[in-house]
Amino acid sequence: MQMRVAIIGQGYVGLTIAVGALSAGHQVTGIDKSAAVVAGLNSGKSHIEGISDSLISEEIESGNFQVTNSYVAVADAEVIVIAVPTPLDANGIPDLSLLVSVARSLGEVLETPKLIISESTSYPGTLREVIKPLVDQAIGQTHLYAISPERVDPGNKNFGVKNTPRIVGGLSDIARDAAVAFYKTFCDEVVPVSSAEVAEAAKLFENTFRFINIGLVNEFAEIMSAMGIPADEVLKAAGSKPYGFMPFHPNVGIGGHCIPVDPIYLQERAKEFGITSKYIALSEEINHRMPKYVAKRLMDEYGDIKGKRVLVVGVAYKADISDTRESPAQPFIESLKEFGAEVSWHDPLVSSWDGQSSSSIVGAYDLAVVLVAHSNLSMSGWKGGPIFTTNFNPKYPDWKPLISVQQKS
Ligand SMILES: NC(=O)c1ccc[n+]([C@@H]2O[C@H](COP(=O)([O-])OP(=O)(O)OC[C@H]3O[C@@H](n4cnc5c(N)ncnc54)[C@H](O)[C@@H]3O)[C@@H](O)[C@H]2O)c1
Repeated sequence: MQMRVAIIGQGYVGLTIAVGALSAGHQVTGIDKSAAVVAGLNSGKSHIEGISDSLISEEIESGNFQVTNSYVAVADAEVIVIAVPTPLDANGIPDLSLLVSVARSLGEVLETPKLIISESTSYPGTLREVIKPLVDQAIGQTHLYAISPERVDPGNKNFGVKNTPRIVGGLSDIARDAAVAFYKTFCDEVVPVSSAEVAEAAKLFENTFRFINIGLVNEFAEIMSAMGIPADEVLKAAGSKPYGFMPFHPNVGIGGHCIPVDPIYLQERAKEFGITSKYIALSEEINHRMPKYVAKRLMDEYGDIKGKRVLVVGVAYKADISDTRESPAQPFIESLKEFGAEVSWHDPLVSSWDGQSSSSIVGAYDLAVVLVAHSNLSMSGWKGGPIFTTNFNPKYPDWKPLISVQQKS
């Protein structure tokens, strides 16, 4: 059955869901407050890797997909999906201001009951205690409310909206079942749970699990390096165990909108209940010290970098995407500067970042450190000194890894 769907926020999550809903034949209106996003999509341009321009222009031309910055369009929708950012504020605590503003705007325009689903990641209780009261208060209307925390992994070629199981919880069984029916139109597997809080907490636990295991493997790599044992070989050997082990890889830090952020949502909410997670606090400390640790390792291998011209390559938070949110490249560059280096950066997918444009590979540099090697990275033209990287990269065996040491015989 075709549904009229409004999706608020047309970023990584919102546009991905729009494409999923369009694939099921729904009529989709994307709402975004960014004029650039609205104009780009309406002119058939996708700003998200993995979603092609041709797909967007076909859907816009067919009239199935419309994009606007006006909330008036939600009044006509049957299903409303919220997909706006839930970052940390300047003090490092959860910032729900965008979610709050969306809820207020919905309250102002909705006059008839709707199914309202939040895909934004937040702590348990957000739907019940923050979103619902704000939407309902305007006209005393009660809608159906559900949570379906998004699991999209931008750039992942194996798992997308269709084949990634989707958790759904609601503030009532009717709301949950309505949301399950909606997602079943374009997702292979939907996992209903007993409450909105279960769904919200499951998402936070998934990313906290990664955050803590990354902290563990980062700390382990430091220990291996101090002992002169190659961490990458140890981890590969441990990974041969076919059960009860899951590989994680040490790196210069953690980045993106989820892994560094979501565990803090859990931690801050837990504090309100008089409890804190020691695992989260410790992993945060370890993960955040990695940029400086890798800068120090660079000096172990290269020598003093004071006055040296260093090119940092790859400032997106992971390979093959342009997303620089919470990128560990930022604190890494700060550490290099603290040690006296003159730093430039290059990223073939990021044209400008932190108020600067991407520098050319060709230039007067003393050394390079590759943090992220996108598939389309080319170092041809490089005339500087040695190239370092974080972990051994079989495609570039000459780059010297900084995290895993090579055992001295
Ligand atoms: N990016 C991911 O990989 C990912 C994965 C899983 C879950 N999430 C979660 O999904 C949510 C959305 O993240 P994202 O990565 O899609 O963010 P994004 O920054 O890519 O996109 C968000 C969009 O929302 C728009 N927006 C912000 N406030 C708005 C408002 N009041 N009204 C209308 N539009 C508004 C912005 O202009 C932007 O285009 C977050 O809670 C995030 O934690 C993200």
